[in-house]
Amino acid sequence: MSNSQIPVDKLTEAEAASELAWLAKTIFQLDQAYYQDDAPVLDDAEYDALKRRNEEIEQRFPHLIRSDSPSKRVGASASEDFEKVVHSVPMLSLANIFTTQDIYDFIDRIRRFLGLSGSDPLEFVTEPKLDGLSFSALYIKGVFVRGATRGDGAIGEDITENLKAIESFPLRLTGAGVSGSDIPERLEIRGEVFMNKADFFALNRQQLDLGKKAFANPRNAAAGSLRQLDPSITRQRRLSLFGYTFGDVSEEKWKTHEEFLKKIHQWGFPVNPENRLCSSPQEIEKYFNSLSERRSGLAYDIDGAVYKVNRRDYQERLGFLARSPRWAIAHKFPAQQAQTVLKNIRVQVGRTGVLTPVADLEPVNVGGVIVSHATLHNEDEIKRKDIRIGDHVIVQRAGDVIPQIVSVLLDKRPADCAAFVFPCQCPVCGSHVVRIKDEAAQRCSGGLICPAQAVEKLKHFVSRDALNIEGLGAKNTQFFFDRGWVKTAGDIFDLEQRYGSEIRRLDGWGDKSAENLFSSIRKVRNGIGLDKFLFALGIPQVGQATARLLAAHYLSMQALLTQMDLAFDKSSEAYQELIGIESIGEVVAQELLDFFEEDHNRGEVLRLMGSIKIRDFEQNVQKNLPLAGKTLVFTGTLPTLTRSEAKTKALAAGAKVAGSVSKKTDFVVLGEEAGSKAEKARELGVSILSEQDFIDLCNNRK
Ligand code: IVH
Repeated sequence: MSNSQIPVDKLTEAEAASELAWLAKTIFQLDQAYYQDDAPVLDDAEYDALKRRNEEIEQRFPHLIRSDSPSKRVGASASEDFEKVVHSVPMLSLANIFTTQDIYDFIDRIRRFLGLSGSDPLEFVTEPKLDGLSFSALYIKGVFVRGATRGDGAIGEDITENLKAIESFPLRLTGAGVSGSDIPERLEIRGEVFMNKADFFALNRQQLDLGKKAFANPRNAAAGSLRQLDPSITRQRRLSLFGYTFGDVSEEKWKTHEEFLKKIHQWGFPVNPENRLCSSPQEIEKYFNSLSERRSGLAYDIDGAVYKVNRRDYQERLGFLARSPRWAIAHKFPAQQAQTVLKNIRVQVGRTGVLTPVADLEPVNVGGVIVSHATLHNEDEIKRKDIRIGDHVIVQRAGDVIPQIVSVLLDKRPADCAAFVFPCQCPVCGSHVVRIKDEAAQRCSGGLICPAQAVEKLKHFVSRDALNIEGLGAKNTQFFFDRGWVKTAGDIFDLEQRYGSEIRRLDGWGDKSAENLFSSIRKVRNGIGLDKFLFALGIPQVGQATARLLAAHYLSMQALLTQMDLAFDKSSEAYQELIGIESIGEVVAQELLDFFEEDHNRGEVLRLMGSIKIRDFEQNVQKNLPLAGKTLVFTGTLPTLTRSEAKTKALAAGAKVAGSVSKKTDFVVLGEEAGSKAEKARELGVSILSEQDFIDLCNNRK
């Protein structure tokens, strides 16, 4: 998408200067789009090509390097290096609603669930939905001891020192140590860290003056400032925070959410003065409308309102859905929209063969972000909205989702506009396309012979959240694949030995970049966490969170393979154990079994196990957790906890859970009808615990 096709060595000085200016502006806009809404305008390869062209021109014309050149900007934070914190109470998110009617439905649902009549009082606390980063702050006897980010909700990063560096953050709660104070012995306050708009603009001015990258929005600035390994940088940035809920608490001293907010405010914790108590859907509606009107005048960015049932006993009864409480909801402001022209519809083939139609758009500014692609989801979506190439369309971006086409402006439709015909053959390998039963998705049936699937699997394997092989981005992966040097993941680890000298001689490579690539491959070879490895395999339905759950459960690749072998028999204990893992149901289990049943997958995994040191899963837990460093084995049926609840509890308390008893076992937790493991434990003299002993141990913090 460069604005010039002239080879770099043919550029005149004037052309170079003008192109560098264009590149600086364009790459900045792309970064904004990428960081602001997680919806990159270009794919990695196209983006990398622009960066590379910028560097090549700069190399030839060093005197033309601009102060705002993309080559001068520093990259994102190094989150790998933060200590991990296991949340003893998961940090959940909120379900979203978008319309006024949704408020009424939300309240009706709650009334029905609680069995309340229309005249029974039901209060809500309404709060602005702050657009920042959530944090957890643990106080013991009113003294701040540990701070964490949300992370994936189960495990976050330790930001204790960073929180301490925020001016308004209380290190001690008011009343701590004073007799008669009602601060719970252990209290984990949760809330949002954010940057005020004024502080954000001032920071960006300063960044640009220093020739550094400007932040795309206050949320990114807050994230970039909080997640700094050097807390003195956090100190220099002006961050703010409000508390809005709690996690772990030794004793609840409040009966309503309102009372909780009042208490923490009295104890010196900042609480948003915009929070209100509402007694009817009409009042909530008024609150939302007033907030929307005042949104731009608020000191900080918000993206909606949050409604929370006020009474704690009602909250307890309502409980939680998979990822969010039933007693609270986020009401989001409407998405931002713009009008543009649909230039083309491309059908992409993903790593599992799913065909996804993508709209190429005339680039358009949607609420400050340039959008040139939108997802069309699937064939049904195109038909339902009657989307055709050449149409004028309304695109929208909301929050973090990929831009979408909302509707077509039929009165502007050109006369020669034909309906889009979805391919019945894979656009890459020509295999026929099949529609999965009960699903809207269509898949290429080519499997292994489809180059698109193979190369997408490889790109996933090396990507940042998977093996993170630097120097092997999407473009280079495609290049090595096209040359036949890397056809499957295992080939990556033979690359240096087999094609090292050719790569060093490649145009635009040279010894240095080749060496960088080989050294990052070696780095991976020397050790990769089991969870990352499992995620990298690209098994359908196994995303990062599921991969981590599997790793935390089976602990080693060898153990996982052995258990998969046993689990093929669905009446086996291994299969029951597999589907008993939190959030792994029969669908995910089937995908895993299908994957490991295929000889070529198994062969590839074994080959990779020979090339890479796959580190056993070890939670980088806090040392002060009650079961840190202990290995536990569960056996038999426990009286109240399911096996997966018990394991989750053990992991959260810092323990490792093993499948069999050995000399390394610290405790065996014994349920009813325990078999040989109990005998083995007695033989080896391993301590035996009842479920209650185990629960007490978990709750007993050192
Ligand atoms: S309460 C279990 N209150 O929104 C409920 N969340 O979409 C915990 N957020 O992860 C959240 N303002 O980062 C709550 N007043 C508010 C909030 C708020 C912003 C964020 C929070 C959460 C996300 C969920």
